[in-house]
Amino acid sequence: MELVVINGPNLGFLGQRQPEIYGTEGMDALPGLVERLLGEDAGRIRLTLFQSNSEGALIDRLEEAWKIKSDGIVLNAGAYTHTSLALADCLAWTGLPCVEVHLSNVHARQSAMRHTSLIARHCIGAIAGFGIMSYALAVQALWQRLAVQP
Ligand code: DQA
Repeated sequence: MELVVINGPNLGFLGQRQPEIYGTEGMDALPGLVERLLGEDAGRIRLTLFQSNSEGALIDRLEEAWKIKSDGIVLNAGAYTHTSLALADCLAWTGLPCVEVHLSNVHARQSAMRHTSLIARHCIGAIAGFGIMSYALAVQALWQRLAVQP
């Protein structure tokens, strides 16, 4: 199973960006966490990582995933979560199974803008607040949905 993990703007320096909010781990911690959650099954999942600060590149990557029939998407769209109708439109028409993730608990953040997500309605579900573990939990959720459940 191929899952594409897509990170949006300002997520290229995880571990260094405001660690008090976003944690001290980088994306390199993800495979180990997935292995811890999924054990042997982790070997049946190929994770492809992508990060871009630009909205169009994120849409291009989603379209690519659709074109090559990737199995699912783990998406942290960063601030575009709260603003990008274009990204929401792309998720809507491509229809790939997607889990929205956030490192921080966006619902507990001060700015009310962070409490809304334009992409949520086009996702299977959302996981927020667990740092890099949010991504690993999203991978586990997609694995359960796509490979384990009939
Ligand atoms: C974020 C939350 C967003 O509100 C913010 O703009 C980010 C990161 C998170 O992972 O917690 O860039 O998506």
